[in-house]
Amino acid sequence: MARLMENEEDLEEVLTHPRAELIEAIREVRSPLVILGAGGKMGPSLAVLAKRAAERAGHSLEIVAVSRFGNGEQRKWLEERGVKTRVADLLDRGSTDRLPEAGDVLYLVGLKFGTQENPSQTWAVNTVAPLHVAERYRGRRIVALSTGNVYPLTLVKGGGSTEEDPLTPKGEYANAAVARERLFDHFSRQSGGSEVALLRLNYATDLRYGVPVDLARKIWKGEPIDLTNGFFNCIWQGDANEMILRAFRLAVSPARAWNLTSPGAYQVREVAAQLGTLLGREPVFSGRESESALLSNSAALCAQLGAPPTDLGAILARTAHWVQIGGLELGKPTHFEVRDGRY
Ligand SMILES: NC(=O)c1ccc[n+]([C@@H]2O[C@H](COP(=O)([O-])OP(=O)(O)OC[C@H]3O[C@@H](n4cnc5c(N)ncnc54)[C@H](OP(=O)(O)O)[C@@H]3O)[C@@H](O)[C@H]2O)c1
Repeated sequence: MARLMENEEDLEEVLTHPRAELIEAIREVRSPLVILGAGGKMGPSLAVLAKRAAERAGHSLEIVAVSRFGNGEQRKWLEERGVKTRVADLLDRGSTDRLPEAGDVLYLVGLKFGTQENPSQTWAVNTVAPLHVAERYRGRRIVALSTGNVYPLTLVKGGGSTEEDPLTPKGEYANAAVARERLFDHFSRQSGGSEVALLRLNYATDLRYGVPVDLARKIWKGEPIDLTNGFFNCIWQGDANEMILRAFRLAVSPARAWNLTSPGAYQVREVAAQLGTLLGREPVFSGRESESALLSNSAALCAQLGAPPTDLGAILARTAHWVQIGGLELGKPTHFEVRDGRY
């Protein structure tokens, strides 16, 4: 029976609880660990998970969380948990150059939503910031987040895109994400360049955002679920954060990419049916499944780090309970239905 969560404190406790595998791996992470873009959906719990793992390992790992921190509350939350914070705008070279020295660097900065309205901003955040960071932290080990959106849609029966597949996605966001990868790779190939692991993540989910959350909220409100993009991958955010922190040993030069997501694809119709049962409400569907979807194959990373330990059943039970008790939602839908690359 999955542990259900009653409030954000419960959720954060689960997301930041280190497993033995991470406590072991964190000993190899070099201090200070600088986490860039730490003010988003993943960064705060990721930084505190690293802190708690290091404490349990007896490893004196200083953690510096960097973001613009428009939301001061997050900064306070991190500081109260032993994570140092620094305000920086990585689009500003001077601001990036003034960042503290790093042992290892974790790169979480990205911009996806709002691309249709302001594509230039998306290109700037996904290219200029990596350029500044690659130069500022030349020679440091870097784990940089990327996205499964770097692949085009793929046939569902094909088992998901692998790391060797061509990066020919649709849309400006996805192409800017390819550029983000290429910049890190370019700098990793220079003499004295960084060793880099690029993690192509497909849909992290906690209870405040994620594909299962989007589905559960629609079912709860009686809104139709579009089946056209009928399959998806997703991973519990706590598992994604753990695998990200364990990925430093995979950093190499030239950079190498890894798909980070569930070992298999999930069918929207089936997941919605399970959520409907848990919620006691019948899902409403529209459209029909296409032959293709945005899917990644995570076999290579799972062979290195093991499969993510939280199964879909636990994610759905937690999500349904959270929606039923009126738990907080970020109001940041994943738009997993998008098939034309327009975000
Ligand atoms: N969450 C997912 O399901 C998912 C899926 C695929 C890929 N990813 C990738 O994983 C990474 C982390 O995901 P996330 O969901 O935490 O992303 P997110 O919520 O968008 O967070 C990224 C953070 O980067 C910071 N940032 C943006 N521009 C910046 C700048 N100029 N200077 C300094 N900081 C800046 C922002 O925080 P401030 O406003 O505080 O600066 C932002 O909140 C992203 O790169 C994303 O592309 C995530």
